[in-house]
Amino acid sequence: MTRTVSISPFKDQKPGTSGLRKKVPVFQAPGYTEAFIQSIFDSLEGFEGKTLVIGGDGRFYNRDVIQTALRMAAANGFGRVLVGQGGILSTPAASHMIRKYKAFGGLILSASHNPGGPTEDFGIKYNISNGGPAPETITDAIYARTQVIDRYLIADFADVDLDALGTFEGGGMTIEVVDPVADYAALMETLFDFDAIRALVAGGFRIAFDAMHAVTGPYAREILVRRLGVDPAAVLNATPLEDFGGHHPDPNLVHAKQLYDLMMSPEAPDFGAASDGDGDRNLIIGRGVFVTPSDSLAMLAANAHLAPGYKDGLKGIARSMPTSGAADRVAAKLGVEMHETPTGWKFFGNLLDASRCTICGEESAGTGSDHVREKDGLWAVLLWLNILAVRKQSVMEIVEDHWAEYGRTYYSRHDFEAIDTDQANQLISALEGKLDSLAGHQVGSLTIEKADSFTYHDPVDGSVSRNQGIRIFFEGGSRLVFRLSGTGTSGATLRIYMERHEHDPARQGEETQAALAPVIEAAEALAGIRKWTGRDAPTVIT
Ligand code: G1P
Ligand code: ZN
Repeated sequence: MTRTVSISPFKDQKPGTSGLRKKVPVFQAPGYTEAFIQSIFDSLEGFEGKTLVIGGDGRFYNRDVIQTALRMAAANGFGRVLVGQGGILSTPAASHMIRKYKAFGGLILSASHNPGGPTEDFGIKYNISNGGPAPETITDAIYARTQVIDRYLIADFADVDLDALGTFEGGGMTIEVVDPVADYAALMETLFDFDAIRALVAGGFRIAFDAMHAVTGPYAREILVRRLGVDPAAVLNATPLEDFGGHHPDPNLVHAKQLYDLMMSPEAPDFGAASDGDGDRNLIIGRGVFVTPSDSLAMLAANAHLAPGYKDGLKGIARSMPTSGAADRVAAKLGVEMHETPTGWKFFGNLLDASRCTICGEESAGTGSDHVREKDGLWAVLLWLNILAVRKQSVMEIVEDHWAEYGRTYYSRHDFEAIDTDQANQLISALEGKLDSLAGHQVGSLTIEKADSFTYHDPVDGSVSRNQGIRIFFEGGSRLVFRLSGTGTSGATLRIYMERHEHDPARQGEETQAALAPVIEAAEALAGIRKWTGRDAPTVIT
């Protein structure tokens, strides 16, 4: 039986690039979650009788929202739902499942790397049939719908046992509770040389993988431990917890400090890695060497042909604009297309669908390929392991070889979090106002070559995205980028991205912040960060 329930629309909730993210109590308000899910369904056409994939990162409220989503999917006319056992599906595994089973789309319940728990974050995102995040046409339609929605449809049936694998019926719809790991693990076996990695591990190569009490725990146990022979103790924080053990499941040098410290210690294993709440981000650390995500993208692209899934080479490489130019040098050498897109994974979707690129990545610890339409944390880990197994070198040696061949790109991002929104906007407007007059100016020891506000012309569908960040290029190859975050939940977050390219091997061993000092000083001189934000120092440096 389907009920139609009246509600009042919500007014202030604009879903961002990663769906709708709010605190759990906001989602718990009567009718709120239902209104958002109904707004998604109301913005789609032609799903009658089709398949929907549902799963999440296991955070607090995941199971409740799944039960609601199942009843609403039935009432709205979906024919079948595939739901991960325990309500679990990593974001890349959900993307794969949508593609593999030719589903109409999927609901992914996650707030990614943000903390979880009764007063922490929750999120709902819709992915389309190619397995990737909904494009702006759909997210805009969803938003418009949330402004006027006044009812939702829901079927009446008992909670489905999410822990039991099997097929159930609810409200006339088929519900299949499926293994969240099996299909994904099988896909990884098609891409990577598991025999070579198994041999590497059997030969004494030691790994530490930090699942951060988030979704990748079960995936790492199956793939790394069961299939590749890694010591179970090497998978840290392997049990998904609703509150991630009270931590931020954010694989950066701040929140994965334990792993970082281990990798810099005398007891360091050969390879360290971590993934985030929903399994799409990655952190790669070799013994004694942190690999920046921008470098990792470049190094994976340069070596991908060593893995069976990429043995025919790459069709192209794509990176988000703020990601360093290290990958561009690899693309140039390989003679393949290089694409620079706005921040956010959804811009890679068109390029991947049109076979214009094979590997893509962002400086924010996201790397992936055309195997799914999301970034993929474990995929990056496995590609690194495959490369290490074939090259029989340490991470440090691979990094140093890469720098010797392509030069080193020093890179850092400074975040000023939770600053006043008006002040942040004024800082950006003030910079925009002077962009045209900057060329030729001297800032400290640097000379500005050109400056612009980044506009992206999608080569596949011709769409244009403006105001995607301010870029300042200096003579000699250094670059400074300013942009405001689109995912923050309180106030504004100003992100400043700095890079400097260094070809001289004698000057490739500097400490990153010291190496970037002239660019960091130029940022303050050009933008007046202290004046506008009232802050002396960034909140987070990565
Ligand atoms: C951040 C990252 C961006 C990533 C997004 C979603 O967005 O910078 O690369 O795609 O999270 O994971 P931002 O807050 O900068 O808008
Ligand atoms: Zn994530």
